[in-house]
Amino acid sequence: MKILSFVILVLCSGLVYSFEEASKNIHQANNKQNVDTKHWMASKTEVERKNPIKKSLESIKRGRKFYVRSCSNCHGSDAKGKGPAAVNLAVQPTNLREMAGLHADGDLAWKITNGRGAMPAWKDMLGKNQVWDLVNYIQSLNDSSASDKRSKQQKTLVLLIFTWRKHKLKSP
Ligand code: HEC
Repeated sequence: MKILSFVILVLCSGLVYSFEEASKNIHQANNKQNVDTKHWMASKTEVERKNPIKKSLESIKRGRKFYVRSCSNCHGSDAKGKGPAAVNLAVQPTNLREMAGLHADGDLAWKITNGRGAMPAWKDMLGKNQVWDLVNYIQSLNDSSASDKRSKQQKTLVLLIFTWRKHKLKSP
């Protein structure tokens, strides 16, 4: 009897192990797919490349000028990815406003320089450092995080005042 339960135990653990292996494999396959088709990634070296141009108002202005002329047709004048030319594209232009501040400068610069699919490679159209002006402009669109922070601070303040008043009312 003891031997039988031992055998059953071994069989069960084997089964659990193979299930785990199988799900791990599926997971790995999914990850690989994301890298190849869905998520567009620059190499680590490119991502870590330093932006030589300061995020000054002048640079952002230069970037915006180039953007309006060359990018807004697809990415939209509000950079939300819904420009007039977007309707004809199978892969939709990225909402750049949404990704601003979430990607490294080097990552954006590499993607703008080299393109992919419907996204043109701007390599030969960009003057020296122009790509960094574009990057600075895109990153400057990330105004939501600042206002998020502000509204969080406001909420905390209101809560504090509320608690304080409640406390004051209670105490004689
Ligand atoms: C003809 C339409 C078109 C034009 C013009 C265009 N783009 Fe794009 N862009 C796309 C599409 C489509 C994608 C998505 C490509 C993909 O994911 O395979 C994209 C992706 C990008 C990405 C990468 C976002 C990510 O997924 O990480 C950046 C950055 C970008 N564009 C910036 C620009 C800039 C800057 C310009 C102007 C200099 C520009 N694009 C002009 C169509 C366009």
